[in-house]
Amino acid sequence: MLIPDPSLVVLIGPSGSGKSTFARKHFKPTEILSSDAFRAMISDDESDQHATPGAFELLHLTAAKRLQYSRLTVIDATNVKTEARRQCLDVARKYHLPAIAIVFQLDEATCVAQNQQRPDRQVPDQAIKRHIATLDQMVRQIQHEGFREIRVFRTAAEAETITIKRQRHDSWKRHLNGPFDLIGDVHGCLPELLELLTKLGYGLEQIPEADGGKVWEITPPDQRQLLFVGDLVDRGPDTPGVLRLVRHAIRQGKALSVRGNHDDKLQRKLSGRDVNISSGLADSLEQISREPIGFAEEMRGFLDSLPLHLVFDGGRLVVSHAGLKSELHGRDSDRVRAFCLFGDTTGEYDQYGLPIRLNWAADYHGSATVVYGHVPTYQPQWVNKTLCIDTGCVFGGWLTAVRYPEMEMVSVRSHGKFADPKKPFMPTEESLPPT
Ligand code: CTP
Ligand code: MG
Repeated sequence: MLIPDPSLVVLIGPSGSGKSTFARKHFKPTEILSSDAFRAMISDDESDQHATPGAFELLHLTAAKRLQYSRLTVIDATNVKTEARRQCLDVARKYHLPAIAIVFQLDEATCVAQNQQRPDRQVPDQAIKRHIATLDQMVRQIQHEGFREIRVFRTAAEAETITIKRQRHDSWKRHLNGPFDLIGDVHGCLPELLELLTKLGYGLEQIPEADGGKVWEITPPDQRQLLFVGDLVDRGPDTPGVLRLVRHAIRQGKALSVRGNHDDKLQRKLSGRDVNISSGLADSLEQISREPIGFAEEMRGFLDSLPLHLVFDGGRLVVSHAGLKSELHGRDSDRVRAFCLFGDTTGEYDQYGLPIRLNWAADYHGSATVVYGHVPTYQPQWVNKTLCIDTGCVFGGWLTAVRYPEMEMVSVRSHGKFADPKKPFMPTEESLPPT
């Protein structure tokens, strides 16, 4: 069984079903928050039921602190009642981390027999009966409560033989500290990308791919790595060429890319989903249709593999297409996903038909530098420790890179205006200062 790390693991089952035994086998003592231990902590007696409310108050507080620090946390309590699970789910939701349920739905005879073997304290058989009756009514409902994954054990042997592997969230690149060259929204502008890479000192060689197409292979200077802020596709003249280059570089370990909203929409279209064909998607589909058979499916898989955001350098650098608030760095929820793709939108639209966005960057006080794209600006724009490097190449602006950790900007001029921005972002001739 794969368990996301960090996440909140909620054990559910009657007394004597083996929850604590299971927890001890698979998790570190500091990862396990057991209601018994919290009861003992405040009343010197782990079976003192009067201490139960206080014990759970402390348990949830501790779980919240652990999740705040991105620590995998296991809640070892019966959790057969809806309210108990809801409180666990609320904590996970508050910290934008997944909750995983592990249900011990063992028969009464097994739980009673196991309970009798306990060297410490035994629970009355009646209590076990009650837990089992409550859980039996709940197993269907648990499916709809908001757990990311639910694993049900129906026999002690099943619980005994399972192996658990932890899986780091795909944003977890804290061990990589560069040097990086971060590249703004490319939008199918392959010639400008090649020019920018040359300017950054990358070697370029065109080589054949297995499907008969050609790909640009890059040779980075000084072990540098490319980081794309997403929106590789749409509007520009050569989306397939950009996708090939980035995929090849990622496979060779020379690049990483997050997913932009355009990449996500193209991926959904290639998966057969019904999406609105707008904002340059038709150009991408037409260009892809001229590629060898199998290319579309290859690119669907590639785009699907792109993470929504990445956290580097011990947490000092965060890359996300539309930026990311500090409390969402390294986290994994629907809210994080929407923020990474679209920014802090309100659900309303402005006079240009663009989603109204809250100015999260103006309120950003995080310690990480956040590099992103999504909304074109005339020049790379620093706001607090956030840097937007989408300088509107596809709209006739510039394609911009920033070197990390140097934070030097390198740009090349767009070769043409391939689309009109919905909202003007370039100064008009008249508004520019005289040169
Ligand atoms: N046990 C066992 N074989 C297993 C699992 C548990 O023999 N596969 C035994 C344990 O050694 C223990 C008893 O069954 O003596 C109860 O297991 P425990 O893990 O303590 O059960 P919990 O579900 O944690 O019960 P409670 O809710 O009361 O804490
Ligand atoms: Mg226990």
